[in-house]
Amino acid sequence: MKTRESGMPDEEMWRGFFDPDAILRSLRLTPSCRDIVEFGCGYGTFTIPAARVVSGSVHALDIEPGMVAITQAKAAAEGLQNVQIYLRDFVQDGTGLSTASIDYVMLFNILHTEQPERLLRESYRVLVPGGLLGVIHWNYDPATPRGPSMEIRPRPEQCRDWAIQAGFQLCEPGIIELPPYHYGIVLDRPAH
Ligand SMILES: C[S@@+](CC[C@H](N)C(=O)[O-])C[C@H]1O[C@@H](n2cnc3c(N)ncnc32)[C@H](O)[C@@H]1O
Repeated sequence: MKTRESGMPDEEMWRGFFDPDAILRSLRLTPSCRDIVEFGCGYGTFTIPAARVVSGSVHALDIEPGMVAITQAKAAAEGLQNVQIYLRDFVQDGTGLSTASIDYVMLFNILHTEQPERLLRESYRVLVPGGLLGVIHWNYDPATPRGPSMEIRPRPEQCRDWAIQAGFQLCEPGIIELPPYHYGIVLDRPAH
């Protein structure tokens, strides 16, 4: 089931909302991460920059054939061999990835989903102990130029608390401002 209000504006507009490389750095994505997964890759805005950083593969999932095709084409155009893209409903079918096989999970602009706990449980399952979960989402501010409607838009504290309930631990410095329109949170799957 496609997450409510998860359609995309045109690509140029979407790209203008972020500095993806800076966000990935702030959210502790480094070459020490081998294999990673992104739930809902969209235009590949973060998939492609992430693939240039990690030492393994980026597994990118999306329910929209058009998004899969665009991200695939970008990876091919850049000659990136380490992007695996799947047309898949991660709400209904999960990621299909092995338990404890992933170093970093990206839940970017997706936690307004109907069942956030489902995505967080699947994130926990696929992460290695000590692996990281990066969350970004739109500021809880009706003045942002896009983003889910306020009734379903999670506050940063809500995302943090959902993740903690799923078993994650909050990493320093907690909630991170990602101006102009986003916040980020990094959590880890405890090693023990
Ligand atoms: C708001 S976009 C965010 C894209 C990307 N993470 C980013 O921040 O640029 C959400 C994406 O998730 C995809 N999506 C929504 N529900 C999904 C589902 N159940 N399974 C797989 N993909 C889904 C949408 O098609 C869309 O491309």
